[in-house]
Amino acid sequence: MSFSWLIEMYCQKTFMPKSRSYRAVAPGRVNLIGDHTDYTGGLVLPMAIKMFTSIEFSLQENYVDLRSESEDGIYRRALSDRSDPQTSSSWGRYVDAVLSLIEEPQGLTGVIRSTLPIGAGLSSSASLEVALALALGFQGDELSLALLGQRAEHMATQVPCGIMDQLCITSAVAGTASLINCSTYEVTHIPIPDDVKVVVRFVTARQLEGSAYAQRVEECRIAEHFVGPLSVAEMSDVTKIPDAIVRSRATHVISENARVSAFATALSVSDFSLAGEIMQESHKSLAENFAVSVPEMDQAVAQLAATPGVYGARMTGGGFGGCVVALCEPSAQVEGWVVEPVGAASLQ
Ligand code: GLA
Repeated sequence: MSFSWLIEMYCQKTFMPKSRSYRAVAPGRVNLIGDHTDYTGGLVLPMAIKMFTSIEFSLQENYVDLRSESEDGIYRRALSDRSDPQTSSSWGRYVDAVLSLIEEPQGLTGVIRSTLPIGAGLSSSASLEVALALALGFQGDELSLALLGQRAEHMATQVPCGIMDQLCITSAVAGTASLINCSTYEVTHIPIPDDVKVVVRFVTARQLEGSAYAQRVEECRIAEHFVGPLSVAEMSDVTKIPDAIVRSRATHVISENARVSAFATALSVSDFSLAGEIMQESHKSLAENFAVSVPEMDQAVAQLAATPGVYGARMTGGGFGGCVVALCEPSAQVEGWVVEPVGAASLQ
């Protein structure tokens, strides 16, 4: 964790004059590879992208007063009495959750804006949680900020997500993807070479709430009962798992961790053909072993893979809909958003 960042956060709070306005900005993320590995302490390789949640605000003594330009609704709550908020928004539950996790939140009045598509699997909610925490006066380093965001997500949605999205958003470095070890929280920044482009295509809306995400988390826990931590288990261990479905979930997680390492190495030596092949294998495993893809995403991945100049493609994020991501030659004619890797969330 960077000590200078900590000092900066401390100074920001201490010397934040009330007369000026501020902006808390947090990017979204696309995961290049390593899905459904974070909540068992595995490896992931997401990258923060140039699509943001921003909160423009000025400080206020007693209230948190927010509205959103991207979604309907308002949120207003007195800090002093902690009574129920006045809110007509679906996003108000994230404000509630983040507020409850900050020791001495500061009052503010502000506007939330987002250039991130909501419910597309690009971490719009993690981005909102991090931006809110920064605006509401969070003090601490990027890991604590990420853990707070993850906790807020659990409280607001009851989805038992891992740490990938929030830690990517709080620790990203421009021009790189973040290789995260979700057991140790160690982050290694892997440069994205200039002679390759990352394209994200929205396929179909999704919501992790009410999906089988929580069931997958549970199936992994059951697998760990037989083979120990999946983050260090070997493929030969899966034969110890009696249930065929649980065995295939473990097969995905163990093989996906290996793919993350192999993909990061391939990217580092600019072996894009190999990186693309690994992405395709990852998609197949998510669809067949982990059952989190949908036919529309399978079709999009197959169509992208058959497009000249595309090295490989896969679904990205939690699944059950959302986006697919492709690694392409810069000249490839591919429909979608060309996403650039940006740096971490900040308070400006
Ligand atoms: C969602 C969760 C993450 C992670 C991915 C799947 O994005 O928020 O923690 O589990 O799904 O890789």
